[in-house]
Amino acid sequence: KTVAIIGCPFSGGQSKVGVDEGPIHLVEAGLLQQLAELGWQVSFDGHHQFEEIRTEDDPPIGKLKNPRFVSNVCKAVAHAVGEHAKKGHLPLTLGGDHSLAMGTISGTLEKYSDACVVWVDAHADINTAETTDSGNIHGMPLSFLLGIGPKVDEFSWVKPLLKTHRLVYIGLRDVDQGERRILKENGIKAFSMHEVDKYGIGRVVEMALDHVNPGRKLPIHLSFDIDALDPAVAPSTGTPVRGGLTFREGHYICEAVYETGCLVAVDIMEVNPSLSDKESVKQTVAVGCSIVRSALGETLL
Ligand code: ARG
Ligand code: MN
Ligand code: MN
Ligand code: MN
Repeated sequence: KTVAIIGCPFSGGQSKVGVDEGPIHLVEAGLLQQLAELGWQVSFDGHHQFEEIRTEDDPPIGKLKNPRFVSNVCKAVAHAVGEHAKKGHLPLTLGGDHSLAMGTISGTLEKYSDACVVWVDAHADINTAETTDSGNIHGMPLSFLLGIGPKVDEFSWVKPLLKTHRLVYIGLRDVDQGERRILKENGIKAFSMHEVDKYGIGRVVEMALDHVNPGRKLPIHLSFDIDALDPAVAPSTGTPVRGGLTFREGHYICEAVYETGCLVAVDIMEVNPSLSDKESVKQTVAVGCSIVRSALGETLL
């Protein structure tokens, strides 16, 4: 079994500096050795260099910020993920901001057209060009993947291959009005922190998987935004929201997804080492690594 590390030092999907340093810190913290110790062949050909594909002139399209840069980067990432997936590798994408998931999930769907997505996040990241307030594309990747909202020419390469019933959320607690409407209108299943409190994480994960993957036969793409975790657990992230998943709840999700044997791709996103003090950064990076290890088979016993 081979895990292919796709290091994506990219921050163009939002406006805070530093999230591009996330993948560098995760690798420097020893993530690759840790995965090797779990028995994985680790393939890593260095972090991707996106500066070369930055467009000189990239004015907003409507509200969307850095649209050409985000689009070009995600297209490159889709290709990298798709190629590794086709070799039978498990692509592990280190972000970078969550707009990258437009690329990673496109890549996964290229190889596994029936894949489902487990999206672990404080946010729904499903704004459209119409509903976005911030214009930050990291709040929008799912609308493109699902084909919801007005078409944006720049992103016409994103094939809307993801079906609404193949997406499930865990951990939501900061969902914009427009996003709430989209979730309702499209019948998209979401387990917010309210459901985590009500049912406990064990039942939530079971219900989530029953929804997107009833017979546990479909490939699973796990997209984990570190801000799904409570800020006390993972403080160094651009859009922290209190009332999040505990350390164990976050890890449990990953362990349970790994146990299905269906996992084909993982994203770990939004680790921003330039936010908050040194200790908090160390803590967040360490948690990022251990979340990934759980997703790739680390057990407690
Ligand atoms: N919903 C807000 C927006 O559209 C916040 C999105 C935060 N997304 C993230 N990947 N951290 O801007
Ligand atoms: Mn590669
Ligand atoms: Mn988020
Ligand atoms: Mn996100």
